[in-house]
Amino acid sequence: MANNSADAIVRHYNRADEASRLSAGWFQLEQERTRELILRHIQPAPARVLDVGGGAGAYACWLAMRGYEVHLIDPVPRHIAQARAASAKRSQHPLASSEVGDARKLPQLNGSADAVLLLGPIYHLTKRSDRQAALREAYRVLRSGGFVWVAGISRYASLLDSLSHGFFGQPEFAPILDRDLAEGQHRNPTNDLYVLH
Ligand SMILES: C[S@@+](CC[C@H](N)C(=O)[O-])C[C@H]1O[C@@H](n2cnc3c(N)ncnc32)[C@H](O)[C@@H]1O
Repeated sequence: MANNSADAIVRHYNRADEASRLSAGWFQLEQERTRELILRHIQPAPARVLDVGGGAGAYACWLAMRGYEVHLIDPVPRHIAQARAASAKRSQHPLASSEVGDARKLPQLNGSADAVLLLGPIYHLTKRSDRQAALREAYRVLRSGGFVWVAGISRYASLLDSLSHGFFGQPEFAPILDRDLAEGQHRNPTNDLYVLH
């Protein structure tokens, strides 16, 4: 991300369609593996799940279908609209709520969630203090003994993406990759979506 302001996040996701991402290419593997890791630890339904940075609702709707009470929070209005549309298609098992919000300041009460998904905010929040705030909030809303699932992105992700997608040799990509590898910070000042996330 060029920066982690709400405007930059909204601009990014107006260009990259999150609703279709997990059904394309190797992202399907990400989805299957993530589901496997969620199911390995989540308590049986019914239970209350908070999906923070839930995007277009891929995991939220899937968990709602399995009998969980799922609340989705995301800063991108387009994602909330997509999540609500996906939920409406499953009228027997809708999302309990889906609202615009930020991982750093959640509206939920202390100890009110049995499980929290944080599969997005941490790699978008480029400042350590912001990541700490998001993790603190997840811990605050979680009940004692509950689980939080947190996703990060390795500094090597751009390198692997560039090799598999064929843009490794492009001169404008070189400084982006250099910074990724040296600092673990991804900044893309070009208008090209070299790396989607
Ligand atoms: C790549 S998507 C992942 C969506 C879904 N959780 C998944 O794993 O497929 C990253 C999500 O994080 C959200 N996000 C970015 N910054 C955030 C923040 N500060 N608080 C909450 N969500 C945030 C984005 O809007 C986006 O929906």
